[in-house]
Amino acid sequence: MKITSATFMRGLKGDNEILHDGIPQIAFIGRSNVGKSSMMNTLTNQRKLARTSNTPGRTQEINVFLINNTHYFLDLPGYAFARTKMKIWQKLDKLITWYLFKSEHCHTVVLLIDAEIGPTGDDIEMLEALRDANKDIIVVLNKVDKIKKSHYLTQITKLAKQLEGYMLVPFSSETRVGVEELAEALLS
Ligand code: GTP
Ligand code: MG
Repeated sequence: MKITSATFMRGLKGDNEILHDGIPQIAFIGRSNVGKSSMMNTLTNQRKLARTSNTPGRTQEINVFLINNTHYFLDLPGYAFARTKMKIWQKLDKLITWYLFKSEHCHTVVLLIDAEIGPTGDDIEMLEALRDANKDIIVVLNKVDKIKKSHYLTQITKLAKQLEGYMLVPFSSETRVGVEELAEALLS
């Protein structure tokens, strides 16, 4: 299904009536800087719907976008679990954990990993926690444009082995690879 409309609704720091209105929610999560907010813009074909940045920690709220009047896309802050004692990151980790595992709202999750780097320890931990919590999970191999052409097949094959059993979608906001496949998987 094509994305024909996208509207920013609200930035959340916790529970809100919007999460209780019955519209299905799809959460986009991953390490900070992996490209979640860029993906919002790429999927919706809008350059400035979500704010992006070179600096990790750009997104500090759960930003809710209404897509096609039928779904919410939730652009979450990046995770940095226990890697830092800085208050701001601890606060963001709390918000992510609350939404994904304590609130009753989250059923479908798109987990972005960097296709060039592969899944980090945090990514694997997150995947296992999501699986244990019975979430519907799609893993996006993001930024595939960064992989050298000559290395592409080897790298994707390696990732497919590491992430066996998960639905995988190669994606790039630079080249728009994967846009249709991901929209189809999420909205059909
Ligand atoms: P936080 O909000 O901090 O969690 O980050 P984020 O995951 O939302 O990342 P964001 O979309 O802000 O992008 C981080 C950086 O990665 C920016 O400099 C983007 O231009 C870059 N980027 C995003 N997607 C791609 C991609 O597909 N390919 C390449 N090469 N760069 C990308
Ligand atoms: Mg962001």
